[in-house]
Amino acid sequence: MGHFEGKSVFITGASTGIGAATSLRLASEGATLFLVDIQERELETTAARCSDHGVDVRFKICDVSKEKDVTESINEMVKEFGAINTVINIAGIQIWRHSHEHSVEDFEKTLAVNLTGTFLVCREALPYLLKTGGSIVNTSSTTALAGIPYSVAYAASKAGVLALTKSLAVEYGKEGLQVNCVNPGGIKTAMSKMPPVEEPDMDLLLRQSPLASFAEPESVAGLIAYLASDEARHINGESIRIDGGALS
Ligand SMILES: NC(=O)c1ccc[n+]([C@@H]2O[C@H](COP(=O)([O-])OP(=O)(O)OC[C@H]3O[C@@H](n4cnc5c(N)ncnc54)[C@H](O)[C@@H]3O)[C@@H](O)[C@H]2O)c1
Repeated sequence: MGHFEGKSVFITGASTGIGAATSLRLASEGATLFLVDIQERELETTAARCSDHGVDVRFKICDVSKEKDVTESINEMVKEFGAINTVINIAGIQIWRHSHEHSVEDFEKTLAVNLTGTFLVCREALPYLLKTGGSIVNTSSTTALAGIPYSVAYAASKAGVLALTKSLAVEYGKEGLQVNCVNPGGIKTAMSKMPPVEEPDMDLLLRQSPLASFAEPESVAGLIAYLASDEARHINGESIRIDGGALS
């Protein structure tokens, strides 16, 4: 029997990369899934691949930075499945810019998706998660822990996710909720391609590179699946680096 048999899981950023890998991992462990993202075709593909595992999968276009989208998605999940056991926030964007050229618009957009989006999903799901004594896994980054060039908004947003995670863990821990986050670095996805900034300082950029090679998104999916599972019940308010030793 899979770790997630009988559990309903809400996953953001499910279309590609770490979100798609996590959706598939949880489907393989028997989870009932509600998947959201803004990339429709890719989301349909992830959902179809998850369904191949014989689990119940629903998906919906949802921009996590939009309060209405998030509220509607959580409400729809509860209507369809009756409960939420786990929420996994993976949706994110990274806009690479020299900091002195970073527009306020791009700064606020990054915070809106990465940080406000994570907050909105947690807030809307909390009443249901408290009923099931469930779990939340958020996605921070190594950029929350050590300086990274050309990513001032992204780093700030991911540090916010880390702080939000710890705050929720403390606030609701006594009620049986478990809230943790992962801090990936050097994962092979669309996001980790070489940044389109002019004349980047490669020494600075490579500061957060894994000691050996970049890892597949499935490696993060495995860690997320563990943190979301009952096996990790005593882990709360924790953040775990998965970066090939980059920040060691
Ligand atoms: N790849 C890495 O090395 C790395 C390192 C640290 C953290 N992360 C984090 O992992 C998460 C997943 O990133 P990834 O590397 O798989 O890249 P990715 O670009 O493949 O995945 C990001 C997903 O988020 C979705 N998304 C973007 N904006 C959205 C919005 N407004 N609403 C809903 N969905 C939205 C995208 O459509 C995409 O499916 C992100 O939060 C990212 O910051 C990745």
